[in-house]
Amino acid sequence: MTDLQNQIALVTGATSGIGEVTARTLAQRGAHVILLARNAAKAETTRAAIQAAAGHTQVDVLLADLADLDQVRRVAAEFNARYPRLDILVNNAGLLPSKERKVTPQGNETGLATNYLGPFLLTALLFDKLRESSAARIVNVSSAGYRLANPDLNDLQQERDYSQMFMYSNTKLYNIMFTQELARRLRAHGIQNVTTNALHPGAVASSFAGDSGSLLGVAMRLARPFMISSEEGAATSIFLAADPSVAQISGGYYVKQKPQAVKHSFNTLENARKLWQRTEQLTGTSFLG
Ligand SMILES: NC(=O)c1ccc[n+]([C@@H]2O[C@H](COP(=O)([O-])OP(=O)(O)OC[C@H]3O[C@@H](n4cnc5c(N)ncnc54)[C@H](OP(=O)(O)O)[C@@H]3O)[C@@H](O)[C@H]2O)c1
Repeated sequence: MTDLQNQIALVTGATSGIGEVTARTLAQRGAHVILLARNAAKAETTRAAIQAAAGHTQVDVLLADLADLDQVRRVAAEFNARYPRLDILVNNAGLLPSKERKVTPQGNETGLATNYLGPFLLTALLFDKLRESSAARIVNVSSAGYRLANPDLNDLQQERDYSQMFMYSNTKLYNIMFTQELARRLRAHGIQNVTTNALHPGAVASSFAGDSGSLLGVAMRLARPFMISSEEGAATSIFLAADPSVAQISGGYYVKQKPQAVKHSFNTLENARKLWQRTEQLTGTSFLG
């Protein structure tokens, strides 16, 4: 199937798990795929494998650590200089933050920066290229773990009370709130050629949390035989990135390719607006204000 010929797709976290399958499938369906990765050696290996699987050479690598917002700015500038437009952006990269709180060169907590601030900034900086597409889709990989979120707008960085699990769950709720607020802002600005949706991929036997040294990492290793494959886990990302049936849908949260209600008391319109403003401050960007 080559239905994505002439489409330009950028997938973050494509060196492993769900992102690798997503990137490979989009390439096999004819898309020109750019892998955004932080590890050059892994990215080259992945690029070669995807090129071989896809049977074409339009698979590129851009290197950046999403947790480092200076690197995100640099890589967005590289993308903007090299490509005429962006048709599919899959914000897939994510990690379970470390047990002990760690900060990035900009002083942001690493999980918040990797899972939320980096993708927000990347999306904002690539937005002009998304607008160049006749029909662009932004897909944000969240998690059903959002249900455990316990956010504090006055302490997004958890400087007072750090918890690896709450930080992960919070970032995954922010991914959904970003998606919904972005959809509202796109509508308010009368922008019809860009849609955005979020998803939970399922419990996937990938490398996720494998090196986190946490109880969840141990639990995930033990549960691997009962978990779905990365191929199955990538299905909803690919569906939202490419299926004609969701071309006009925006602001949704999908599980197993079906829309699902988002149930969390923090997810109010007012909190979504405040979160957006606070994120603009933390990333030093202004986006669809
Ligand atoms: N696995 C699950 O059960 C599950 C469940 C719900 C949601 N999710 C979500 O699914 C997404 C993909 O996870 P996965 O299961 O495929 O995990 P994975 O196998 O660990 O893959 C994560 C990918 O993200 C990349 N990445 C991590 N931090 C990065 C950074 N700072 N900058 C750039 N790239 C970075 C990794 O790069 P390296 O190869 O360099 O490490 C890797 O390519 C995540 O957003 C996760 O939260 C997963």
